[in-house]
Amino acid sequence: MTKVSKAALIRAAAVVGVVVLAGCSKEPEELPVSFSKDVMPVLQKHCSECHLSGGVGEVASGLDLSSYESTMKGTKFGAIVRPGDSTSSTLSILTEGRADPSINMPHGDRPPLSKEETGIIAKWINQGAENN
Ligand code: HEC
Repeated sequence: MTKVSKAALIRAAAVVGVVVLAGCSKEPEELPVSFSKDVMPVLQKHCSECHLSGGVGEVASGLDLSSYESTMKGTKFGAIVRPGDSTSSTLSILTEGRADPSINMPHGDRPPLSKEETGIIAKWINQGAENN
């Protein structure tokens, strides 16, 4: 192996190292998600119409999405958020379209949440679903 190619290999390895390190540094999903600043606006945009006190969704299911407390309380059948586990949280299952189309949320002809919006909800749940 010549000196030049060895140097080139080291440089290449260094570049790989930098890329790997960059991959390990704070990814957007590791930044803390805030309920009030990040999650609430998504719920207000897509759910408030029906899930505020007296709305059709609230009357039918008991789910009031107007505050942290009421969101954590869930429906008349129980919680829709399992802190730390978005995979099994009803809130994520329905908004990510993982349930039967007839029960996914939002209901009816409303547009589904974007990947970014469902990602915000999932991250917040996985980070512990705090009142932050
Ligand atoms: C157009 C009205 C409407 C909108 C918008 C809406 N919902 Fe609903 N939601 C309902 C109705 C009505 C029910 C009662 C159960 C049913 O008919 O499926 C319900 C029920 C639910 C339930 C209980 C489901 C169950 O199986 O017990 C959850 C959870 C829910 N909604 C979450 C949401 C979320 C989160 C959003 C926003 C992303 C949302 N909904 C937007 C009307 C709506």
